[in-house]
Amino acid sequence: MSPKVNPSSQGTGNGTAAAAAGITAVTLARSVHAAGSDVVRIALIGCGGRGTGAAINALSTKAPVRLVAMHDAFRDRLDSSLKAIQARCPDRVDVPEERKFTGLDGYLHAIDAGVDMVLLCGPPGFRPMQFEAAVKAGKHVFMENRWPPMPPVSAASWPPTPKPSAKA
Ligand SMILES: NC(=O)c1ccc[n+]([C@@H]2O[C@H](COP(=O)([O-])OP(=O)(O)OC[C@H]3O[C@@H](n4cnc5c(N)ncnc54)[C@H](O)[C@@H]3O)[C@@H](O)[C@H]2O)c1
Repeated sequence: MSPKVNPSSQGTGNGTAAAAAGITAVTLARSVHAAGSDVVRIALIGCGGRGTGAAINALSTKAPVRLVAMHDAFRDRLDSSLKAIQARCPDRVDVPEERKFTGLDGYLHAIDAGVDMVLLCGPPGFRPMQFEAAVKAGKHVFMENRWPPMPPVSAASWPPTPKPSAKA
């Protein structure tokens, strides 16, 4: 199945990724898996406020979704996120020690942890390489938009013209 890009209200996804925001649960259940179990296995990459929220959104759909792997640069962030997600969705979390990944390259292990879909919710500077790795591995992707949004900058408006001071 080739990925398609579908913007959602909060983040941006390819394929069925918009379901992470609870938008297309039925589509997710039908289309992610070509064969095998109906359970959609998700990895969360970037376990801050948005990542935790996005995972809870994804696990709150009617579709058979499980969070099975997590990555954050820092272990304490991963642990606190897991605790918050488990408190909200206790039956939908299966993240044993061997599927908790830290450090800067941990996202590669999370993508490779037998998942169908990844939620990319870390700092935007790391997003391109994480997105590339996920797409190359054939995963569905939900990713947070950059926040705050950057205003468009054109060559004609750069560098900005200094404003004249009030006093001459
Ligand atoms: N907070 C919002 O309301 C909001 C809204 C829309 C989009 N966003 C975007 O979502 C992203 C995350 O926002 P947040 O509020 O969760 O920030 P946050 O600081 O709470 O979380 C970011 C997490 O990413 C982790 N991290 C740092 N480097 C990493 C790496 N290389 N790989 C994986 N994880 C790494 C941090 O340890 C932290 O746990 C940002 O890109 C932000 O621009 C945030």
